[in-house]
Amino acid sequence: MNSKSISGFSKLNKTQKIEWLSNNYLKERDDEHPVFETYWLPDKYVQKVIDGFSENTISNFIMPYGLAPNFMIDGEIYCVPMVIEESSVVAAASSAAKYWLDRGGFKTTILGTTKVGQVHFKWNGNKELIQSIFPDIESHLLQNVRPLIENMSKRGGGITKIELINFTDDEPDLYQIRVHFETCDSMGANFINSVLENFASGLEEYFVDSELIPDEYRDINIIMSILSNYTPECVVRAEVSCNIQELGIFANGMMAEQLAEKFRTAVKIAHIDPYRATTHNKGIFNGIDAVILATGNDFRATEAAGHAYAARDGQYRSLSYCEIEDGIFRFWLDVPMAIGTVGGLTSLHPLAKKTLDIMGNPSAQQLMRIIASVGLAQNFAAVRSLVTTGIQQGHMKMHLMNILNHLAATEAQCVEAVVFFEDKTVSFSGVRDFLNCIRN
Ligand code: MEV
Repeated sequence: MNSKSISGFSKLNKTQKIEWLSNNYLKERDDEHPVFETYWLPDKYVQKVIDGFSENTISNFIMPYGLAPNFMIDGEIYCVPMVIEESSVVAAASSAAKYWLDRGGFKTTILGTTKVGQVHFKWNGNKELIQSIFPDIESHLLQNVRPLIENMSKRGGGITKIELINFTDDEPDLYQIRVHFETCDSMGANFINSVLENFASGLEEYFVDSELIPDEYRDINIIMSILSNYTPECVVRAEVSCNIQELGIFANGMMAEQLAEKFRTAVKIAHIDPYRATTHNKGIFNGIDAVILATGNDFRATEAAGHAYAARDGQYRSLSYCEIEDGIFRFWLDVPMAIGTVGGLTSLHPLAKKTLDIMGNPSAQQLMRIIASVGLAQNFAAVRSLVTTGIQQGHMKMHLMNILNHLAATEAQCVEAVVFFEDKTVSFSGVRDFLNCIRN
């Protein structure tokens, strides 16, 4: 084997895959200084489970798994696991959690739990006809799908609404069947997609068999059937509030009123300017994604929904809001979130299972509340730093520790370095020179 391209790669076992990689892509062969194998799990059974999540796997990619304690959410205290590679994020979430623990904690509201799926199709018949016979089409589809939704119905979920949407003004003959779902504690992607594909074949059958369809219009062209990751009706709100005076005195000696007003303005800027809004929302997703990952949920889906929601009025804006009224500082976040606590990776990944255990095995709605609170905490911590000390101070402390670890500094050397760099700019070469100096 010596080629940059290959057929039958998936059929090779892990060792053969690494061998091929070493021969064709790596400067340093992996059997000389094994890296990929080092991260194989000793427990072969668990490794097999992890391998099964994806394809062509040769190793595991390690990410830090941290804890943010002291999250008081709707009166309950949670310790929240977070998986994230960026330094300062877990520290910021923990600091904001502790801060709001002393001020009543986070309050949350589920604003909706409806998810949506679509069957897109083309039909060149009469627009009024399809609209008028749609109730008949709908009952045929529902009849057909009944066995598939039985279990979900028993759990209190299922299909809540079906609509026919006419897109023929945008594209000739184009229609959509939009289906609204309640999927209880599961994220529901597989359930929704199975129902939609069943609808698509039911639709084809209907157009062939129904006597309400004129013979010359029996042809229907299914384009595709898939859930929508845009979930503007599956939204959670997390909020914090307190008397302005209770905000206390901040870093740099900033007083509560000044902090509150600067903070409100910072959030307003993220509503006015998409450049700032993107960074502001990125900070929110630092927290959200980290918990989503730790629970084995789909962070791409949550990100996609969040960003689309942030642009729902035509301009990309902040997902969080701040107001000061009658001496009360109020800060809140509305974020769409299609997640689950049963099915998918949540019960297969050993650490995802542990994460849910740590948080008391929450329902999907409880998990939405927790995740939104972490997003809001993250946003609070970031904006608080930005309008007071700036974020570099905190980041640089972590950056310094990462460089010291990389250069194998001892504990005593770390302590000396922290004191030395207290009032200096941290750079890799600066820290290396400092260590060389004290080591000699
Ligand atoms: C960094 O990952 C996130 C921040 O940039 C967020 C923000 O600016 O609000 C600190």
